[in-house]
Amino acid sequence: MTTLPAGGPSLDEEPTLPPRAPFRNFPRYTLRPPRPPRASRRRTRMQYCDIVFVVVFPEKRRKKGETSFAFMCRKRGGQRNPAARARLRHQLGTHRTADRRPREIVMQQVTTLASGVCMPLVGLGTYKTRGKSLIYSVIKAALQAGYRAFDTAAVYRNETEIGDSLKQLLPEFGLERKDIFITSKLSPQDHGFEKSLQAFEWSLSNLQLTYLDLYLIHWPGVQKLKSEDAQNQYLRGQSWKALESIYKSGKVRAIGVSNYTVGHLEDLLKTATVVPHVNQVEYHPHYLQKDLKKFCDLKGIHLQAYSSLGTTVEVSPLLQDSKVLCIASRLSRSPAQVLLRWATQQGVSVLPKSTNTSHITENIQLDFDLTAEDIAELSGLGISQKYAWDPSAIH
Ligand SMILES: NC(=O)c1ccc[n+]([C@@H]2O[C@H](COP(=O)([O-])OP(=O)(O)OC[C@H]3O[C@@H](n4cnc5c(N)ncnc54)[C@H](OP(=O)(O)O)[C@@H]3O)[C@@H](O)[C@H]2O)c1
Repeated sequence: MTTLPAGGPSLDEEPTLPPRAPFRNFPRYTLRPPRPPRASRRRTRMQYCDIVFVVVFPEKRRKKGETSFAFMCRKRGGQRNPAARARLRHQLGTHRTADRRPREIVMQQVTTLASGVCMPLVGLGTYKTRGKSLIYSVIKAALQAGYRAFDTAAVYRNETEIGDSLKQLLPEFGLERKDIFITSKLSPQDHGFEKSLQAFEWSLSNLQLTYLDLYLIHWPGVQKLKSEDAQNQYLRGQSWKALESIYKSGKVRAIGVSNYTVGHLEDLLKTATVVPHVNQVEYHPHYLQKDLKKFCDLKGIHLQAYSSLGTTVEVSPLLQDSKVLCIASRLSRSPAQVLLRWATQQGVSVLPKSTNTSHITENIQLDFDLTAEDIAELSGLGISQKYAWDPSAIH
């Protein structure tokens, strides 16, 4: 039987407002995406060159000559890209709310997926976040801190509460549906064409939405099938066909997979008519998956990291890693911020999960740069330790 260990989806498993950062602390044009080496620049365009930084200034704090909607958008060769600018402006919304009040300051690092959809590089993870009042306070703290992306899944059994909370909170923050990015995932028990279509509709109705921003196949294996069973391959192929048809119907803006190895992706690409836009996998300095990252870059599949902080455990070896602690202390940042910035600086998006307001706030404050040496050191720890479930045995 396919095992579903802790850290991944198991069907059995399952405010005080934070202080606002001072205006001057926002580095407006200073953060730049790392420039890939020349040889791979063409292949990795999506990952590196479409990262933009968006700052929305409240009217009253705007200084003379400053634009209210500032962003940097570069295309290959470093030229400005007016078409992308216009698209982003439209996608991310204008700087005023419907009743003409200025919006909160929000700084987001975003990446453009191969579907053309703009996705924030930092989203809130919600695995094991359960209970109506907890979810409400977590989403409220996250919106206040500047999160605009939320990651859930059918097996987290919190879609309804997240939908309820967003419905209530978005107007309070002067936000609309189009201002946020919602991801959900197909449960391993719902593989197959028809079941996938139904599962998607179920998630949509739980979240009380008319469309999702991203829908992923959660796991390459099928619930209750053995890992080596060939039906896994057939059924997840059928699920992908269903996701393609949902995508073509316009009910989801991007589709992808999760926990897919290079083998699973190669298999999918043999018959796919849409290349997955995202592969959400465990990715951190203790579990690098270099080959998978290279493969995804080559195919234009955005790599999204989960368990960046080592999952929900008493003591996380990642957060206790001496190299991480050393860099954090030198930069006067927290170990969590160093781990998250290590990923986002490579163009990899992250989904830190927290129910603690100050953690939620600090996890999105990634307005600093690690040096190339820091990144190399963290990427060269030589540890290969998985903290979540392992899909490599799934046929
Ligand atoms: N696709 C998949 O199969 C899959 C698998 C696993 C996860 N995910 C997604 O990725 C998200 C994140 O992964 P994860 O849930 O495994 O956990 P994680 O984000 O790696 O770690 C969460 C743990 O870190 C703690 N934490 C958060 N911020 C912190 C900070 N600034 N300082 C110290 N500790 C901090 C949290 O405790 P506090 O609450 O006390 O802050 C919690 O115990 C999930 O919620 C889910 O959305 C997907």
